[in-house]
Amino acid sequence: MQFHNFDSEAFRRDSWQQQPMVIRGAWLAWSNPLEPDELAGLACEDEIEARLVIGGAGDWVLEDGPFAEDRFAALGDRPWTLLVQAVDHQVPAVAALIEPFRFVPNWRIDDVMVSYATDGGGVGPHFDQYDVFLIQGLGKRRWQVGKRCDETTELLPHEDLRLLAEFEATDEWVLEPGDILYVPPGYAHNGVAMGDDCMTYSVGFRAPSRAELVGHWCQSLMEDLSSDDRYGDPGLAEQANPGEITAPAIAALHAMVTEAMSDKAAFARWFGEYNSAPKYPEIDWAPEVPLAVADLSKMVADGQILCRNPASRFSFIRQAGGAVLFVDGESYECAGDLSGLAEQLCGTDAIVVDAGSDAQLCLIAGLHNRGCLGFDDEE
Ligand code: SIN
Ligand code: CO
Repeated sequence: MQFHNFDSEAFRRDSWQQQPMVIRGAWLAWSNPLEPDELAGLACEDEIEARLVIGGAGDWVLEDGPFAEDRFAALGDRPWTLLVQAVDHQVPAVAALIEPFRFVPNWRIDDVMVSYATDGGGVGPHFDQYDVFLIQGLGKRRWQVGKRCDETTELLPHEDLRLLAEFEATDEWVLEPGDILYVPPGYAHNGVAMGDDCMTYSVGFRAPSRAELVGHWCQSLMEDLSSDDRYGDPGLAEQANPGEITAPAIAALHAMVTEAMSDKAAFARWFGEYNSAPKYPEIDWAPEVPLAVADLSKMVADGQILCRNPASRFSFIRQAGGAVLFVDGESYECAGDLSGLAEQLCGTDAIVVDAGSDAQLCLIAGLHNRGCLGFDDEE
């Protein structure tokens, strides 16, 4: 599906990562994919990350889920917002909201957070470090955006919430169901529900920080480095002051580090695995009964449609002779006809596998039995 009223090329060129933008009536016929009661039900489950923000204007309280079923009825008249993370992992109709945003590569997508607010509810003026599309699902919300912030921007003293000490709106819109506000990283924003039953779907992205990349990549390199691989100085040169660490010594030490870090092929494989690690590794999606290759072969021959588990992260890189497929933190070498399958699994939402060689069937069965792929009609 593609958005109505939206020029993806102009958006990528002029707005993405640069400036906020409102897209009105992006869906030809908008239909809210989740009922408020269903969201409340998810917020009561153990494995689901949920938060409740109660109050407003200088008096905010944060509670972490899971919540007791009667918690929401007991909140009284103070405005409140319930926020539930990664609802796309649980509800296929919410996962489908991501589809028109595929002009951004899948590896940059984080999850869809869903919020529900009563009249006047909101999470307060703040900024996020990532791009976000805020889709109005139900009811109305007034959104204000302000200036671009960074780590030096002053925050209110609060134990749990990162709220801005000062917020001055430079733009303001009232969003109705099916409207979208795009907010680039760092921009101050504040959304307040206008009336009860206000639901917002946040399609959130992610971008690794340099610190995270360097830290985790080095951690992974260290696992393979030998303690015998050490600085050496045969033919030691005489130096005038024994207290000096000379420039040649520094250059040799620095080269030990940069040489180890500069293997691009190893970096690509590490990054694919790292970036595809599941967001909630404690959730086990594996089917109770594994599927045998013979049964899979029949299903594929019948043209049954395969889908990625919306909670699974799939991506691939090209390499000489094929591709490497990354699924939920693991890599699969895909040479020959497997590389076409790897591309199809990563790039197509409803997957129909053509013939199905033994190697292809084994790959699909393995992914199915890890819970990363399922057939359309399976629960
Ligand atoms: C909300 O849905 O209320 C908050 C989303 C956000 O500001 O990032
Ligand atoms: Co935000």
